[in-house]
Amino acid sequence: MIRADSLTGLRLAISAARRSGRRVALVPTMGFLHEGHLSLVDLARAHADFVVMSLYVNPLQFGPGEDLDRYPRALERDAALAAERGVDVLYAPGDAQMYPHGAPALTLDAPELTARLCGAFRPGHFQGVLVVVAKLFNQVRPDVAVFGRKDYQQLALVRRMVRDLDMGIEVLGGPIVREADGLAMSSRNVYLSPAERKDAPLLNRALEDADAALAAGDTGTAAIVEVARARLGTSSRIRPQYIELVDPETLAGVDRVVPGHVLALAVHLGSTRLLDNRALGGPAPDRMA
Ligand code: PAJ
Repeated sequence: MIRADSLTGLRLAISAARRSGRRVALVPTMGFLHEGHLSLVDLARAHADFVVMSLYVNPLQFGPGEDLDRYPRALERDAALAAERGVDVLYAPGDAQMYPHGAPALTLDAPELTARLCGAFRPGHFQGVLVVVAKLFNQVRPDVAVFGRKDYQQLALVRRMVRDLDMGIEVLGGPIVREADGLAMSSRNVYLSPAERKDAPLLNRALEDADAALAAGDTGTAAIVEVARARLGTSSRIRPQYIELVDPETLAGVDRVVPGHVLALAVHLGSTRLLDNRALGGPAPDRMA
């Protein structure tokens, strides 16, 4: 595995692969890698011959009072995991390489998609994500880019950016990888106390309950959301921020649920914010796969 921490080093590392006509995939991450990230490397490998992973904790996507300063970092451990999983290039730039002229003046947004769900509670977050992802796309110029469905709104926004701006990159969404007890893997799970960690699988349980309600014939959004809320309510530590049923592509709210609609939720558990989601009634439709 080649390691690069500058744009020049990155371009050099990719150039030989490009000259020989190999299909290049990009897996963007903020590091502190877990199996969720590494599963995206496998997906990238299945669709490309050369896999670049970026590892950059992007300050632009953290709001004031969020966890930028304490975001977990373990560069050497990540490099070993990435190499073991077959990453060809690990690109880990510093702030001075990523933003040599300071924060970009240009902004990117799709208000229709960012006004809801996480976007409603994290002003500026997705604008920061889109700018760094657009920069990474321009730096790497991948044929394929791979994101996790764990961050559902992020995936939908990246797809829309690529489509609206004719970026010509195939965007793939990988399934959510979970711990044995159902908790979606996240770099932020390390923040949880033992008691909080015990309650954390309730997010997935709430999604499963909602799915069971749909399977049993409930199709009203309010009723299904209530089922999920009731399960979360069995822990006094969990404070739901939102529980919403949305169309998988437009992220617009729905009144009646049909298979493929996505139930997305965010909660606070102690001081940690956790996300999860599930396409109800079966796997997500192809367009989000
Ligand atoms: P990060 O949170 O490190 O996640 C990197 C990628 O891994 C994202 O596409 C995310 O959806 C995916 N991922 C995280 N946990 C997952 C899980 N349990 N199962 C499957 N995929 C999972 O998302 C970001 O970084 C940043 O916003 C980034 C896109 C890198 C831009 O800075």
